[in-house]
Amino acid sequence: FADPTFSSAVVDWQRQHGRHALPWQNTTDAYRIWLSEIMLQQTQVSAVLGYYARFLDRFPTLLALAEAPQSDVMALWSGLGYYTRARNLHACARRVASEYGGVFPSDPKLLAGLPGIGRSTAAAISAFSSGTRAAILDGNVKRVFARVFGIDQYPGIKAVEDVLWRRAEALLPDSGIESYTQGLMDLGATLCKRSSPDCARCPLRERCVAFALGRTAELPVRKPK
Ligand code: ADE
Repeated sequence: FADPTFSSAVVDWQRQHGRHALPWQNTTDAYRIWLSEIMLQQTQVSAVLGYYARFLDRFPTLLALAEAPQSDVMALWSGLGYYTRARNLHACARRVASEYGGVFPSDPKLLAGLPGIGRSTAAAISAFSSGTRAAILDGNVKRVFARVFGIDQYPGIKAVEDVLWRRAEALLPDSGIESYTQGLMDLGATLCKRSSPDCARCPLRERCVAFALGRTAELPVRKPK
C-alpha cells in the first residue's frame, strides 16, 4: 500500500493551506510540543490556546512543572476538562525528570511508555520535535482514513484499528514528516469534518472512496450500540 503521491498531496496541501502559526509550531522543544499534544487530545485548538499560554507562563520548563505541587497543576487545568490528562501530565513530567534527566526521549516507543502518552501522541511528539518517521492515528486521522479507504466497519474495533495503523505506517513519506503529520491533523480538523466535510477543497478527493460513492455522511461507521 505504499504510495508516495498520497503523502505529497497531503504535504503540498499543508504547505499551502494548513496551519503554520499555532504557538506549538515552529519549535522543536519537546516539552512545548508534548504539552500541546496532551491539551489537544480531546480539546479543540481554540479552547487550548489560553490554557497553553498560562501553563508555559507558570511552568516554562519541564523541571518547573515536575517540581510544582499537583494542586497547582490541577488549578491551572481547571476548565479544560478530562482531568486524568492533568494528573498524567504531572506524573509524566516527574518521570521525565527522574528517568531521563528532564529531557524527553526521541524514540516513540520510549515516549509511549510514559503516563498519558499513547502510540499516536508519541508519534506526533517525536515527528514534531525530532523529525522521527512515525505514524499517527488519532480520532481525526481515523476519520480521514476511514473515508479515503472506504472502511466499512467501526474503526474502534481492534482488528479494524490494526488495519488502519498498518496503512498509516505504509503511507509515511521518506522525508517531510512534520508537514505530513500536521497536514493529516489539519485535514481532519478543518476539511474532513464529521458533518458537512468540505470535499471541494480536499487534496485527497480524487482518491477518496467515500467521496466517489457519495458516502461521506455514512463513513466512518458509527459505534455499534
Ligand atoms: N490536534 C492534535 N495535535 C495537533 C496539532 N499539533 N495541531 C493542531 N491540532 C492538533
